[in-house]
Amino acid sequence: MTELLMEARDVRRHYTIGGGLFGKKALVKAVDGVSFSLAEGKTLAVVGESGCGKSTLARVATLLETPTEGELWIDGKATMGVGGAALRHLRLSVQMVFQNPYGSLNPRKTVGSILEEPLAINNRGNAAERQEAARAMMAKVGLRQDHYGRYPHMFSGGQRQRIAIARALMLRPRVVVADEPVSALDVSIQAQVLNLMMDLQEEFRLAYLFISHDLSVVRHIADEVMVMYLGRPVEQGPKPTIFSHPRHPYTKILLAATPSVDPAHRQTAVAVKGELPSPLNPPSGCAFHKRCPFATERCGAERPELRPIDGHIVACHHAEAIG
Ligand SMILES: Nc1ncnc2c1ncn2[C@@H]1O[C@H](COP(=O)(O)OP(=O)(O)OP(=O)(O)O)[C@@H](O)[C@H]1O
Ligand code: SF4
Ligand SMILES: [Mg+2]
Repeated sequence: MTELLMEARDVRRHYTIGGGLFGKKALVKAVDGVSFSLAEGKTLAVVGESGCGKSTLARVATLLETPTEGELWIDGKATMGVGGAALRHLRLSVQMVFQNPYGSLNPRKTVGSILEEPLAINNRGNAAERQEAARAMMAKVGLRQDHYGRYPHMFSGGQRQRIAIARALMLRPRVVVADEPVSALDVSIQAQVLNLMMDLQEEFRLAYLFISHDLSVVRHIADEVMVMYLGRPVEQGPKPTIFSHPRHPYTKILLAATPSVDPAHRQTAVAVKGELPSPLNPPSGCAFHKRCPFATERCGAERPELRPIDGHIVACHHAEAIG
């Protein structure tokens, strides 16, 4: 039986900003009503433009921040109201890989000590056992044994991301949250790292929450896709449906702007027209209505809720007509 490793129910993360001497207090709804379930061996990709709440969702999912509302369950356990040792224990089962392996690896430590550190901090094994585990993980991510004593700056971007992935796996998490893990890499290297991630997923039965602004990357790795706009999912469902039968105008525009892997079908990129509205002052009704080519009067007045269409869910008043 496949196990459900993460479940989010209407998760929100709001920030109050300002309120100092000069500023008025304001609320940023960085994540505003996200629900999903993620099973072992599966990848949920979260896509959307800069500022739509992807990294905030990543921090909530890795328990670095608590939701202001909603429920988050990890490996069948509630995370709500959990603190202290129980929270530290829960955190071990969700590890994170960041976009920038330059910033996330300590430049003064060797690959060996970078990989052994999580084990040492959590009192796993003795020094010899930790070294053995580090070397075994190096082999799994395609690093050579003579890399053990080297420093991060001696590696290429792709190899550094391999080190970061290896470190994330040292404590044998069930879930890996990867926030733009290949965005900083050359396109030629991206596929190698994605293939590695997929191999490791199979071997360790990992669940991935995979964050990317790039649908061509998502096409490679996702099982399910969630498209976010200003903190809210606007379309969510199985990858094949999202890619071949998108219903939300925003998804359609993002897809049209995605270069095809097949050069014969490559399109010139069409960016989403107009600026992303400020999350401090989101538009009324459908948050996308000022940029949407299909917007009607209703769209400016009434916010569309997610509803099921064709085996997935869409938040658009006119999804049927548009599809
Ligand atoms: N700690 C915070 N305090 C106040 N506002 C925040 C905080 N963290 C994020 N935000 C705001 O929440 C919104 C979502 O930010 P987030 O970093 O999650 O977006 P993102 O989708 O990861 O963007 P990018 O693609 O640029 O990484 C932004 O408007 C951001 O300014
Ligand atoms: S609800 Fe209206 S504005 Fe929003 S995406 Fe659908 S058609 Fe466009
Ligand atoms: Mg981000």
